[in-house]
Amino acid sequence: MKKTLALALAVVMSLGLLASCGGKNPPAASQPAASQPAASQPAASIPEAPAGGGTIGICIYKFDDAFMTTYRNSLEAILKEKGYEPIVVDGNNDQAKQNEQINTFITQGVDALIINPVMTSAADQIIATVKGADIPTVLINREPTAEQMAAYEKLVYVGCDAAQSGTFQGELILDTPNKGDINGDGKVSYIMIQGDPENIDAQLRTEYSVQALKDAGIEVEQLNLTRGDWDREKGQTICANDLAQFGDKIEVVFCNNDDMAIGALQAIQSAGRKVNEDIYLVGVDALDAALNEVQAGNMTGTVLNDANGQAASAVAEMEKLLGGATYTSGNQSVYVDYVKVTPENVGDFMK
Ligand code: BGC
Repeated sequence: MKKTLALALAVVMSLGLLASCGGKNPPAASQPAASQPAASQPAASIPEAPAGGGTIGICIYKFDDAFMTTYRNSLEAILKEKGYEPIVVDGNNDQAKQNEQINTFITQGVDALIINPVMTSAADQIIATVKGADIPTVLINREPTAEQMAAYEKLVYVGCDAAQSGTFQGELILDTPNKGDINGDGKVSYIMIQGDPENIDAQLRTEYSVQALKDAGIEVEQLNLTRGDWDREKGQTICANDLAQFGDKIEVVFCNNDDMAIGALQAIQSAGRKVNEDIYLVGVDALDAALNEVQAGNMTGTVLNDANGQAASAVAEMEKLLGGATYTSGNQSVYVDYVKVTPENVGDFMK
């Protein structure tokens, strides 16, 4: 009876959390009915639900990533508060290393896994491994295809719709007084500093930021597109090189994330340019450093990539899996909404 109550509570709590995350397309999970006595469930298909207990293995693609640092801290805090024991490991951007870490967690007998893959292309292998070990798993941040996910019924992806963040970046430029056309030559000339292009977030932000301008009937000119691998220093170097090469021609600097935008800002300032006067700069994530720069007028805007909301959603999905939920329809992705951050509303996002 006690177990039934605990299970019911876990399911109710996870449903509540998901609802508060603004997720779209909630997965069509087959939940064990909370009101049904546990004894009537086929014993083998209902794993022991720790309901606030149990060891959770968390694999992060690399600790040295500003956004994933906020994300993993949030995951740890939520799990600890709920009585779980999280163990977080650093994949050092090395898929082979992460594969070993996953195997070690399996050997240790963790109750569930939360995995931020190093390579999206490794998803098949990761999914086969966790399926072989029958471990409930939540993938985060780097989205596999629906077909890949469908291979395992105890698997959920939690992330965001990357196209939406790109569109919001384009809208931030459209919201400026000259819609990005600072020199009034009838077109918006930009550089694109891209994240790791293997990652769908990088691909879709690159595409949809510019698409938003085109959809508004604006002519665009790409001066350069360079991969900066989500990295601040690379963002700075790339932007400095582009400023040296293209000078005043650059009207907009699109960065796929804030860390690269902060780096780009250093290059912009060193070149004597002034954001929002003679150049625009946008990022994604709403890191604290970026919020400060938006408020100070040194970034045109950013987009909240809700690390806390995604962490809460990931834990909620993990608890559903631990409670026995399985996914047969292939609808296994949960999305948390992005939010546009402008100089007008930036105060709402600052702690
Ligand atoms: C974030 C980046 C981060 C990347 C890691 C993206 O969603 O915007 O800041 O580096 O995820 O995969």
